[in-house]
Amino acid sequence: MKTQVGIIGGGPSGLCLARLLSQHGIRSVILERQTRAHVEGRIRAGILEQGMADLMRQAGVGERMDREGLLHDGIVLAFDGRLERIDMAALTGGKQVMVYGQTELTRDLYDAVLTDPHITIVFEASDVAPAGFLEGSPRLSFNKEGETVTVECDWIAGCDGYHGASRAAVPPEMIAEYERLYPFGWLGLLSDTPPVHEELIYTYHPRGFALCSMRSTSRSRYYLQVGLNEKVEDWSDDRFWDELGKRLPAAMASELVTGPSIEKSIAPLRSFVAEPLRFGHLFLVGDAGHIVPPTGAKGLNLAASDMYYLSTALIAYYEQGREDLLDRYSETALRRVWAAVRFSWWFTQLMHDFGEDPIAHKIQLAELDYLLSSTAGQTTIAENYVGLPFDASFV
Ligand code: APR
Ligand code: PHB
Repeated sequence: MKTQVGIIGGGPSGLCLARLLSQHGIRSVILERQTRAHVEGRIRAGILEQGMADLMRQAGVGERMDREGLLHDGIVLAFDGRLERIDMAALTGGKQVMVYGQTELTRDLYDAVLTDPHITIVFEASDVAPAGFLEGSPRLSFNKEGETVTVECDWIAGCDGYHGASRAAVPPEMIAEYERLYPFGWLGLLSDTPPVHEELIYTYHPRGFALCSMRSTSRSRYYLQVGLNEKVEDWSDDRFWDELGKRLPAAMASELVTGPSIEKSIAPLRSFVAEPLRFGHLFLVGDAGHIVPPTGAKGLNLAASDMYYLSTALIAYYEQGREDLLDRYSETALRRVWAAVRFSWWFTQLMHDFGEDPIAHKIQLAELDYLLSSTAGQTTIAENYVGLPFDASFV
């Protein structure tokens, strides 16, 4: 097989990147090790910054998102029995976030990719291995139904997530990895119940963090901070709802509509960044290059800026013969990555119980009280949450 861009991974990064390239007639092959149903079955976050929503529109897959997505102007922080709303739109010149589940986003991308003449996708591709990317002869090999196939390409995009093959193929001496693990996880529950509130509620409580989110006006997504030794089988629905009610301010807890879970899982939290994000003809995109704790809802939205920069650079290469943007990809992408890693870490340490001494709890309450009483404090949360701008000089 021959193509222009070989893409490892058929998650949001790989699918959206392929569509952005295809809009300019650039051909790609996506190698995904799972089935479509498996990828679509993953329950992930559901908050799109304007940048990601715009990319979905540019990729020609924004129609259902614009019809069914929920635009939110604000978020609520709950602490010490208080409910404090941050009017993000008012503080950021009208910027909003879009509530639209990643499952739906991935489904929209697959529907487009599978009928796109410029994109070939191979599901259940095993033993995917990038090679030649440092020697100027980039290629991907993979195994499908017992046959080994080679894809010759001009460039390789590693969109294969934290545990993928692309970053693992880079010689260790060429890459620096920065990682921080958090001493707790998030227990998530999905239910076909109306959300407890019209906007998201992030709760700081001595019993632990809680988040009230949603997928629509009839489907809710809730999270509880839990210890690393917790097992999801020890959390019945009743135990989950009871604990959530204890962590919400009474006024909100009394509004909680409970129901059977349709999904329940525990995820660990980590901050991770690989530097650089380019190795010859191989580029790392999205979770393959960085991971953030979900507190700031930045995971997918960081993949968005990577996709924007790499697609812009590849389009300039094929249409104008330019390599300058390809040379700038890593530095430009990493600047926004580190800004989001910082915010995600900062918001996580502000809103969670790290099990420290009692004074830590008092200091966190004092910080929340200050931030929410200050326009500057509310603005710093708002401008990071709606998403810092992409680099306008990258054209
Ligand atoms: N070969 C082929 N495919 C692979 C391999 C491999 N060796 N390793 C992983 N994959 C596939 C996975 O099956 C997955 O479908 O790559 C895809 C990576 O997708 P994500 O992990 O979703 O990462 P990304 O596309 O960058 O999305 C980033 O979406 O999933 C969320 O938490 C993630 O919010 C973040 C955003
Ligand atoms: C979600 O809806 O899954 C979600 C929302 C906001 C976050 C994390 C997850 O910060």
